[in-house]
Amino acid sequence: MAERLYLGIDLGTYQSTIASSAGKMHTIETVVGKPKDPVARNMLGRDVLFGADALEKKLACNIYRPMAAGVAQDDEANLAAAKAFVTHLIESVDPEEFDEVYGVICSPSHITFTDKSNLVATLRGQVNAIMVVSEPFATGFDQDQYMGSIVVDIGAGTTDIARLYGTFPNESDEDTVLEAGDWLDVILMDLVSKKYTGAQLTKDMVRLWKEKYSYVGGDDRECMVELSVEGKKNVVDVGDIIRQGCEQLIPFVVNGVKTIIATADPEYQPQFRNNIILSGGGSMIEGVADMVADQLADIGDVRVWCVENPIESVASGALKLAGVMPDDQYTAIN
Ligand SMILES: Nc1ncnc2c1ncn2[C@@H]1O[C@H](COP(=O)(O)OP(=O)(O)OP(=O)(O)O)[C@@H](O)[C@H]1O
Ligand SMILES: [Mg+2]
Repeated sequence: MAERLYLGIDLGTYQSTIASSAGKMHTIETVVGKPKDPVARNMLGRDVLFGADALEKKLACNIYRPMAAGVAQDDEANLAAAKAFVTHLIESVDPEEFDEVYGVICSPSHITFTDKSNLVATLRGQVNAIMVVSEPFATGFDQDQYMGSIVVDIGAGTTDIARLYGTFPNESDEDTVLEAGDWLDVILMDLVSKKYTGAQLTKDMVRLWKEKYSYVGGDDRECMVELSVEGKKNVVDVGDIIRQGCEQLIPFVVNGVKTIIATADPEYQPQFRNNIILSGGGSMIEGVADMVADQLADIGDVRVWCVENPIESVASGALKLAGVMPDDQYTAIN
């Protein structure tokens, strides 16, 4: 019998994770760099760079974030970058040792149906058959919590919310909120530039501060960071700003959850209220589960908790699903 490799692939706005049935798991930032000119090409010694490697050399490269919100998915350069990225991601788990490859894929929810046909084109030649599922469903499956739960994936591009009750969720069971990690970076950048006039900031700088210090609730903490004002080094406290910015995200998450619960079958609503699961990078904001629970208190008793592996949960759930789905659930793509 042909030896088959199963893959769980989480293509994310900010980072992507692949998990294979041969026991491999990798996370790579969804970034592609192409050398800007022959000098850069010569210096870098390669035609294309990925993830952290591309970001380190960003001044010498044209940088593509092929899954980012707002990027035209049918733009030729972006499509080529997406294809190169997906190929790199899949090659990182050595698929050539197998006769066939079956993959369960999650892609950002802002990628629409027509873009999904580009996704298939991107995967052609890499995998033999695919099945596309949503991020919250993959997470719920990973956590063995797909029979009566609300899963909230707070990613970079979007916050995706689904109610799960033991079957594949349909469109009405899922909702997407546009406020997520990238949105928060913009909010934080704005707050920092208001407090420290003339501060020279990039989104990447602010994102790193957020990832290091993020919290909500309690007293202001001291979070010292280095920034330049007109080229001059300053060390400043952004603790109050980090809290204020992160707390602005919470009502969007809470309202999304409330809507998904309110439109559910009333008999299931107590079960949903009692099992609200946070995942994705945004679930690493310290105190987020407690604050979401507090703000949900007006709909009754709730239980809100965070998964332990928020970055890998989608890919590992997709892999788990890949192994148990009958072949007729897959679409052959070659
Ligand atoms: N400790 C942290 N606190 C707050 N935010 C964090 C933390 N660590 C990572 N993030 C943020 O989480 C986001 C990345 O999360 P994740 O990997 O789930 O997103 P993604 O899957 O790439 O995006 P999407 O699911 O929207 O396509 C980024 O905005 C990142 O800055
Ligand atoms: Mg994601």
